[in-house]
Amino acid sequence: MTSTPLLLLHTGFGSRLDHHLESFLKTVLRQGRRRLEQGESALEVTWSVVGLLEESGFFNAGRGAIPQEDGIVRRDIGTMDGKTLGYLGMPGLTTISCPARILPSLFGTTRHVLLSGEAASRWLVAEGLSDIPGPPPFEEKSLKTWQDRGDQGDHGTVGAVARDRNGHLAATTSTGGAGRMRAGRIGDSAVPGAGTYADDRLGAVSMTGLGEVILQNVAGYRFLCAVSKAPDRKAAEEAIREILADIAEGPAARTDGRIGGILISTRHGPFVFHHSGVLLAGAWREGEKEVVLKDSWNAGDDPCLPSLSILST
Ligand code: GLY
Repeated sequence: MTSTPLLLLHTGFGSRLDHHLESFLKTVLRQGRRRLEQGESALEVTWSVVGLLEESGFFNAGRGAIPQEDGIVRRDIGTMDGKTLGYLGMPGLTTISCPARILPSLFGTTRHVLLSGEAASRWLVAEGLSDIPGPPPFEEKSLKTWQDRGDQGDHGTVGAVARDRNGHLAATTSTGGAGRMRAGRIGDSAVPGAGTYADDRLGAVSMTGLGEVILQNVAGYRFLCAVSKAPDRKAAEEAIREILADIAEGPAARTDGRIGGILISTRHGPFVFHHSGVLLAGAWREGEKEVVLKDSWNAGDDPCLPSLSILST
């Protein structure tokens, strides 16, 4: 059975779409598109897209990742194959500057789902995959920049979700974390069901925003399940709005923090959703000449209302 290839990426909250980013992100989406057209798997395409975003240094991931309070940069990455439910999450990496680049060598080589911190970082050195083999450098300047922004500051987590020609889905998310992190803090990106999830029967999702809120709500899986149960797209939109109102920013919310995500539902297609703020995200669908890129997907003018944009199927 052949399927319609589809690719979505996000670069988290905070980045405005200027000429420079527009041209870079279009190039990234077009490269992903070419790979999907050539028959590469959704999983490989998400690795390659996230790898390019990490290497750019423009976002809080890969080369642009920010340090924790001890001045050490610890990177988190999560990736999931919707065909097999294979998952690899590696939080707290200190010996690799762009974790997505090592996924082709590592994925499927262990049945462990999560490998963390110092020991996992040493493993990368032993495997010859590290590009920071010595003690991780102390990064004072960017530490101060991030402390100044605070907990609710700009987040530049990056992620991609894709569907390939065979109808398989995948998700990959990479981050340097959030503002004012204690050393050892782990966010949502590497944790299955929180920041990253894919299951061909449900869909694929990559989340961004305050990791603590995403973890507390197992948000990625929650959005996927709700959208999957909805009888049609309108009901799916409503379900996303309800979850946003319940968990993030606003009078009725039980937890507090800005969150958003990109999602491909097996039943209802692509969604980009976020609470208030700027969420830079883009998409490409087979059959369309151009890619779509936006930094704000707000449906209404009221920044306190849950906002959501739906890419038409
Ligand atoms: N969403 C990324 C983090 O909070 O770590």
